Amino acid sequence: MEKTVSQAIAYRRSTRIYKDEAIDPEKVKQCLYNASLAPTSSNLQLWEFYHITSKEVLSKIASACFNQNAAKTAQQLVVVVTRKDLWRQRANANIEFLNKVFDKPDLEPRLEKRKKQATDYYKKLIPTIYFDVFGILGLIKYWCFQIVGLFRPIYRQTRLSDMRIVAHKSAGLAAENFMVSMAAIGYDTCPMEGSDTLRVKQILGLPRGAEINMIIGCGIRDDNGIYGPRFRVPFENVYYKV
Ligand SMILES: Cc1cc2nc3c(=O)[nH]c(=O)nc-3n(C[C@H](O)[C@H](O)[C@H](O)COP(=O)(O)O)c2cc1C
Repeated sequence: MEKTVSQAIAYRRSTRIYKDEAIDPEKVKQCLYNASLAPTSSNLQLWEFYHITSKEVLSKIASACFNQNAAKTAQQLVVVVTRKDLWRQRANANIEFLNKVFDKPDLEPRLEKRKKQATDYYKKLIPTIYFDVFGILGLIKYWCFQIVGLFRPIYRQTRLSDMRIVAHKSAGLAAENFMVSMAAIGYDTCPMEGSDTLRVKQILGLPRGAEINMIIGCGIRDDNGIYGPRFRVPFENVYYKV
């Protein structure tokens, strides 16, 4: 039986050594489907998930992860990739979806207004924020918005670096959805940023605009697979009730 969310969160630990025991790729795929249901900025879904099951590619990626145990002993690997470069394609997908959802004869004025607001969001606002030329436009927008921001609240994350953070934030949420889903079915994971991301991109044949968010080792924990008890700073140090 699947664990509850709280049980799965408690069970999940970064597992560095996996048993030499196969895991079902279909179940891993289902957990990746759960990953794709994570919330994402503007619902742009600027992510891709590469599910590595081929022994040859596993060994190449493990080597790009400096052969750390969590990669070397993993039965399968998942590479979470951000695709900020796909913003226009994803915005168009949202517009198509909205057109379908609101494709009704005699749409009520209330819904007509909602459709216009939502499509304008993807047709006007998203390009205003995402369109950039080598980061120059983003910087100009950033300073313009800072000036407007002196007088009223305004969105400020327009620089290239800001937009990268926006994409990685959402991809991180997807990664956590994945790891918790894996834990729920008794599978283990280890998120890794310790890798040569350029080499990983080359192995997967990814384009320039793609970025590696993290690589996740997958398998079943070995008896010595978890290096120690879980450590967190006291919750009181990070919890602020306002
Ligand atoms: C973004 C990210 C990158 C990480 N990179 C690595 C890594 O390269 N190698 C590794 O062994 N663990 C890595 N970890 C795992 C952390 O060390 C681990 O989450 C932390 O020690 C807390 O332990 P827990 O996950 O068992 O609760 C990473 C975790 C995150 C979230």
